[in-house]
Amino acid sequence: MTDDRPRQLGRTPPMGWNSWNAFSCDVTEADIRTAADALVDTGLREAGYEYIVVDDCWMATETDSEGRLLPSADFPNGMAALADYVHERGLKFGLYTSAGTKTCQGYPASLGRERLHAEQFAEWGIDYLKYDNCGDHRGRDAIDRYAAMGDALESVDREIVYSICEWGENRPWKWGRNVGGHLWRATDDLVAKWRADPDEFGLGIADALDRMADIDAGAAHGPGGWNDPDMLQIGNGPQSGQSEHEPVDVQRPLTKAERRTHFAFWCLLAAPLMIGTDLTSLSRFDRELLTNERLLAIDQDPLGIQGTPDRRDSDAEVWSKRLADGGAAVAFHNRGDAERDISTHVSAVDVAGGTGRYRVCDCWTGNEWDTGGSLAMTADPRDTAIVRVTPC
Ligand code: GLA
Repeated sequence: MTDDRPRQLGRTPPMGWNSWNAFSCDVTEADIRTAADALVDTGLREAGYEYIVVDDCWMATETDSEGRLLPSADFPNGMAALADYVHERGLKFGLYTSAGTKTCQGYPASLGRERLHAEQFAEWGIDYLKYDNCGDHRGRDAIDRYAAMGDALESVDREIVYSICEWGENRPWKWGRNVGGHLWRATDDLVAKWRADPDEFGLGIADALDRMADIDAGAAHGPGGWNDPDMLQIGNGPQSGQSEHEPVDVQRPLTKAERRTHFAFWCLLAAPLMIGTDLTSLSRFDRELLTNERLLAIDQDPLGIQGTPDRRDSDAEVWSKRLADGGAAVAFHNRGDAERDISTHVSAVDVAGGTGRYRVCDCWTGNEWDTGGSLAMTADPRDTAIVRVTPC
């Protein structure tokens, strides 16, 4: 167990792009190069998105004779060359494997070969490892399996962000830091729907918010270690994030209001921001959403506090998050079917008191005004108004 390492990595929630939702098991080296270029060309790198992570299916079906992972034929130049390509664009490079005998798509994985694989990853120049929970666990519990890779990453001569993908099954927020993790999934896979049916794969945006409200996971969350409610589904249809073995009906993609709520809440939760869509077809609305500086400042606020609900009743929700400047981000979320006014007061959210005057900034429009304490916003159905409140 490695709970005494200096935590220089992940001081704010990691930001980047992951291949899974956009490319699933068909991902190729060319897709990754294109994504790296697109992250730069769209201005997303400039906004702070820095990791390019190749998810499942990058590896060949067989290892070498000593158990090392080999890239598949879809990565003809190998992972060191791909890492170089990503690094040359001022970005960081990540890979995926699993804490079992196989990945979720049945490729060779890392249980029992942690040190060997961590050495490979360091030699290739990777900066981020997503470590999934599929395959045979050989009777070993989650903490033991995730600690083995944490120790292996600690032993190599390279700083690698350790992203634990255990789906929140064994409350990883209790032990994620102690096994060296910088972020840990708190939920099942997110899909690009508002709600998923209980018997279908994954969680919709509203399901994930309910789960984040219900689990008492905020205490472990902060600089160096983050609860992860999964990749951003902005830009995706509801079929994204499914393997070919798990077909679902194609329904409508997320509406603009739902996408706004998704992004506002991931920032309010100080969640890792890993984009999950094909960047070559990003709409203007989605690009502007993902690069909203006021929201990114809330996500990346140095205090690193996870926002929590102050009020969840009759389809009106108020959530807030304390910020390093003594102010707070306050979200007004409408769960209902009709536009509604939602109000609260600074005394009901976590704002430093004393001055009696507060500056309010609407994170969507940039409009600013003063208040003596009352806060009232209007939100469309499934939309979220979000403000930054600062004591004057
Ligand atoms: C699991 C993970 C996903 C993704 C897939 C890949 O479902 O939770 O994020 O990595 O495996 O197979």
